[in-house]
This record gives sequence, C-alpha cells and structure tokens, in this order.
Amino acid sequence: MKVLIIYYSQSGNTMRIAKSIAKGCRAAGAETDVFKLRDANYDMLDKYDMIGLGSPVWKVATPNMHHFITQMPDQHGKHCFLFNTHGTLPHLYFPVTLPNAKRAGLLPIGYKDWYGDVTMPGMPKPYYTYGHPDEQDFAEAEDFGKEMVGNSPRIAAGETDLIYPNPVLDDKVMTQALICSNMLAEPVNPQGDFIRDPKKCAYPACNLCMDNCPMGYIDLRSDPQRFGNRGFKCDDCHECSFCFMICPTGAIEMDPPGIEHALKNKGKRHEAFEEMLRRDEAEGKFRPHIAIEDVGVDTPYLLWHPKRPYFVFPKDEDE
Ligand SMILES: Cc1cc2nc3c(=O)[nH]c(=O)nc-3n(C[C@H](O)[C@H](O)[C@H](O)COP(=O)(O)O)c2cc1C
Ligand code: SF4
Ligand code: SF4
Repeated sequence: MKVLIIYYSQSGNTMRIAKSIAKGCRAAGAETDVFKLRDANYDMLDKYDMIGLGSPVWKVATPNMHHFITQMPDQHGKHCFLFNTHGTLPHLYFPVTLPNAKRAGLLPIGYKDWYGDVTMPGMPKPYYTYGHPDEQDFAEAEDFGKEMVGNSPRIAAGETDLIYPNPVLDDKVMTQALICSNMLAEPVNPQGDFIRDPKKCAYPACNLCMDNCPMGYIDLRSDPQRFGNRGFKCDDCHECSFCFMICPTGAIEMDPPGIEHALKNKGKRHEAFEEMLRRDEAEGKFRPHIAIEDVGVDTPYLLWHPKRPYFVFPKDEDE
C-alpha cells in the first residue's frame, strides 16, 4: 500500500504531526511519502492508494489547503484521512473540510486533530496551548497512521463501519461559525495592514517572504513587484502575519506598528478561548502544560520576542 501525506505548516506543529503519522503508516507496512503542500500537485495523487491531508486550523483549513481540496479533480472514491493542529477554537475544521473532501471524490476514512502552540504577533506568549504537540501527541499521531493503514483495506473489503462517523455539530461548532461570520462581515486583517519597504528589502539575496506566503501574494520577480493581496500591501482577512514574522531585515512592518498592536493586547485575557479550553479539558480533550494564570497575557509575542526575525521556522530534519 502506498500513502501520500500532504501538509501545510506555518510554525512547524503540523509538520511534526504529519511526520509522526507517516512514521505510523510505515510501521504498519505502507510505503509513505510526505510532501509540503507547495511541492504537491494533483498528478502525483494517482500513484497512491491513500492520501493524508493536514494543515493548521485558521477558522477552518488554511486557505491554501482549502483551495487544494476544493479544486482537486475527481478522485473516484480514493481513501483519505484529514488532520490538523490548532489553538483554542478548532471545532469548525472537520465539519467544513470533510464535505469538501467528499465533493472531490475522496472517501475520508478517518480524521484527527491535535493542540499546537500559537505564534501570532499579539497573542500571549506562552500561549494557552504551550507545549503542544508533545510526546503523547506524537505517539497518538503514530497510532493514527497505523490505524488508517490497517483500516483502509478492511473498509475496501466491506467493513464500512470502520469509517469515522461525521463530527457532531454542537454549540462549539456554532461558536466558531459565529466568530467566522463576524470576521467575514469585515474582510480585512484585524491585526492591521502589512506593508513592505523595498528600500529595506534584501531581495534577490533573500526570497523568504515570497517562498513562504501561504496565499502566493508575493512576487518580487515581477515588474512592478507584487506584495500582499492588494499588490502593495496585505490586509487579507485570514489573520496571517507570516512575512512580517520571518522577514530578517525589518522590510515588512505592520500598520499600525507591530509594537502598538502588541501593547494593545497586553494584559488581555481571551475569555472565550479560556471557556472553550476549560470545557475541552473537562471532556478529556485538552491536557494543559501551563495553568491559565501562567499564560503570557502580559507578554504578547512581539514583547516576548522583540528582535527580528520574530520567528524562524524549526529545522526540518529531512531536508
Ligand atoms: C493566521 C492564524 C489563524 C489561526 N486561527 C485559528 C483558529 O481559528 N482556531 C484555532 O484553534 N487556532 C488557530 N490558529 C492557531 C494554529 O492553528 C496553531 O498554532 C497551529 O498548531 C499552527 O500550526 P503550524 O505550526 O503547523 O503552522 C491560528 C494561527 C494563525 C497563525
Ligand atoms: S523577507 Fe524581507 S528581506 Fe526577504 S525578500 Fe521579503 S521583504 Fe525582502
Ligand atoms: S501577511 Fe504576508 S505572508 Fe501572510 S498572506 Fe499576507 S502577504 Fe502573504
């Protein structure tokens, strides 16, 4: 059996979970390849018996993974599994992404999510989900990979009760849906605009933002150069800030400035997040590594790490 796992990961959590799932798939006897979403294409799907698709939760799937699934040519019932990592509000991901996968002709036989630490300019550091994914998460991811490889042939042979049931559409899903509706009513980035100063930019010695924008909004080779969803700035509503976080020279700044954004968030408790985590913890879904009172509400990310680059992607040992 051949398994292909395609993932998008901005801060490394989903990458590490994807690799653990792959380890489990291999342990169960499947030849398994892992590709970053930006290196994947639809033609390669034909060579595999089962596809795993994973991304962080950004309300639902990240827009690049969402697009990859919704534009996918018909897969004629090929087995797939879906996975994600997330912060405090993951509950809308599978209710949206599973039907999309089915519309692409995939048969999702299972799905699973894991908590992950959160890296955003104004969010507390340490965050509520600090320490995840942890060793237990990686072990669970391996088990999930083994289970998917074990179940796929049995499902093909008729044991369709092994297919995971649809997620329950409870009030947690509704909470996330209401937050999303609110954001869509004003589709701009609530963190502010992201602006690039060409005078401070090291291109062509640096390509970091262009290579890592999840939406493909940056083209510094073109004339005129393109930056962001507006061509000259980014105010995309998905709350991405990655180019700003990884730019080594300070060529990308926030408007209003990042430091003002961080100071505005200083001391801010996220009561809706805390309430959701309390519920998920009581239901055995969330294992905190820090007490809620130790969450870094007084040190939003940019105050906690005030030096550029604000974020460096963790080393991918396979590269
Ligand atoms: C732009 C952005 C939007 C996010 N939106 C959500 C969200 O709606 N719900 C949630 O639970 N976590 C959200 N998160 C947190 C990420 O899902 C979480 O940190 C995830 O583990 C990141 O995975 P990665 O390290 O693979 O990028 C968001 C993070 C970012 C950067
Ligand atoms: S990351 Fe910064 S320095 Fe590098 S190309 Fe982008 S704007 Fe220029
Ligand atoms: S904030 Fe930067 S990296 Fe994120 S979508 Fe906009 S241009 Fe791309």
